[in-house]
This record gives sequence, C-alpha cells and structure tokens, in this order.
Amino acid sequence: MARRTPPSFAPDLTDLGFGRVFSENMVTSRWTPADGWTPLEVVRRAPLELDPAAAVLHYGQSVFEGLKAYRQPDGSVGVFRPEANAARFQRSARRLGLPELSAADFLRSIDMLVEVDSAWVPSGAEQSLYLRPIVFGTEPFLGVRPSREARYLLIASPVDSYFGDGIHPVTIWLSEDHVRAAPGGTGAAKCAVNYAASLVAQQEAAAEGCEQVLFLDAVERRWLEELGGMNIVLVAAEGRLITPRLSETILEGVVRDSIITLARERGRAVEERRVSFEEWRRGIESGAITEAFACGTAAVITPIGRIRWRGGEMLIGDGETTGPTVTELRRALVDIQYGRTPDRHGWLHRAGGR
Ligand code: COI
Repeated sequence: MARRTPPSFAPDLTDLGFGRVFSENMVTSRWTPADGWTPLEVVRRAPLELDPAAAVLHYGQSVFEGLKAYRQPDGSVGVFRPEANAARFQRSARRLGLPELSAADFLRSIDMLVEVDSAWVPSGAEQSLYLRPIVFGTEPFLGVRPSREARYLLIASPVDSYFGDGIHPVTIWLSEDHVRAAPGGTGAAKCAVNYAASLVAQQEAAAEGCEQVLFLDAVERRWLEELGGMNIVLVAAEGRLITPRLSETILEGVVRDSIITLARERGRAVEERRVSFEEWRRGIESGAITEAFACGTAAVITPIGRIRWRGGEMLIGDGETTGPTVTELRRALVDIQYGRTPDRHGWLHRAGGR
C-alpha cells in the first residue's frame, strides 16, 4: 500500500459540483473481533481489493457519515460538529451489527486527512471539503450474520453546493408508492441500504422534473418523514418552524439539530411533531405555511419552491424566491461554518494545517 507522501499535484478546485472530485489520500483501518481496529493509516486513495464474497456486497452491511470542512478567514480549517457525526456513526454501526469506531479515532482520522489533504479544502463561496467516513463488512462468507471482518475508510471530496447553480428553490416529488423506512427498521441509521431503498423513488422524482423525493410514513402513508437524503422543515407565516419529530424512521440530522438551536435562540418557536402532508397542503392554500426547506450536511439549507404529486402541484410562495426565514437561518448557519461569526456553541473543530 502507498505510504503517506506530500501532495503530488495542485488540485483543480474549479467546477467541482458535488461528489465528483476526490482528494488525493484516504484514511483506513481494518477490524477483526480478536484484534479490534488496526492503527489508522493515511494512504493514497485507490480502488479497493475486496473478496467477491465480502459481506457488504451481498447483504449491504455498510454505514457512513457526511460532514464538512470549511476554509476559515485566517486560512485554517474548521470541521462542523464532528463529535455529533462520531456519535451517530457509532449508533448506525450498532444497528447494522458492525463494529464501532471510537469517537477519538473518528476525530483523529479527520485531523489526519484534513492535514495531509489541506490543499483540497476550497475557499470559494458555498464550497467545502465533504468528508465521507464509511465502515463495511469485508468477511468473505455467504452465511447471513454480522461480518467478522470490517474496514474503515475516510475519503474526501471538495464540493460546491449539492443542488448546483448556487441556492435556488428546488422542486420535490411526493412518493406515494414507496417508503424510505418502517418502524423497527433502519431509518434512524445512516446506512447504505436506506439510500439504496430510496433510489427508485428518487428516479421517479427526476422523471417528474423534481430534484428530491419526499417520503411519507410507512404505516398510514400520511405523515411527512424525510426527503431522499435530508430532513424537511416547514415555516409557518409567523416564523414558527414545524419539523417531523425524530423517530426510529427518521435520521437525526446534525444540520437539523443546529437549525433548531439557532431558531430557538432567535426567539422562534420550533415544533417537533407529526405533520401530515394534508396539513402542509392546506397550510399552503390558506397562507398559514409560507416557506419550507430541506436541511442536511450536503444540502445545507435549501429552500423548497414547489411540491408535485400524481395529479397535483403547489407553489410555496412564488416558487422562485428564497423566503426570509430560510435566508435568515441559512445565513446564521453558514456564517458559523465559514468562521464569519463567533462560534458560541463550540461547533467548529479546528483540523489539519493551513
Ligand atoms: C449528507 O447530507 O451528508 C448526506 O449524506 C446526504 C447525501 C444525499 C449526500
């Protein structure tokens, strides 16, 4: 395996898009029940050698995280709330029968990669280095039980905003045929299979001209759950936020939590409760609900301008303009992430060099 070496070329950080360009190195560790995790190691990013019988390829035993490193005004690098991702990574691993990586190793791996690949942290507006940790089962065995070998990898991708073309209201498609997660299932874990299960619905959304899919609950097909890869928040006319309460079918988003904190500090009421599609539809009609947004590490806060479903469509506001609440909360969040405002919550973890 390649050893850790200085950057071999200057990264091209123009026209990044999302998740298409990758930094030069990665961090890796291997796990077995007898020896636990091997020491973290930085190696050149390269294709993996995996046994064709590896558990992950057959039974989807894989969990991941998503977090971002931001170039700060003084040239240093700040990673947003990595401790929260470390804790969620452990919860996801437990749910999938995978070994947990300690929070200390999770944070150390981020420091190691950001340090060696610091030239890959872009400094343009809305840009960041997206960090993607994964753990997956590698044991070559076709019996159905948790893998007795696992691998940890941390890769990084310099990114622009997720939806392209900067911040603009997106159109979402209500999935009436598919659900993302069911009670007792893996919805609250950040695991590959949840995303695999969402892809057909996401494909349907794209075919309908929509950027994201919205899922309802699996039991009554009535309550808002999540978008394909992000949480959803509605905004009432007087500025109150309404968002589906966390449950075993909803991922506990780090950005969702940050927004709730920032909104409450600004004197806004935040209701975490069940909210039906019918309530949203009637709220838009009556003017009681005036804005809506998607939130997540990749999406940051993205306004929703239009919701479509089989046989229907509604605009939120004029469908084109980003509303005042989304604008205010987005600014409050990104100003912290990019170090433009004091980090009173201790959310930024200083990582790597310059
Ligand atoms: C993230 O926001 O980090 C995610 O994992 C969502 C994915 C759609 C990129």
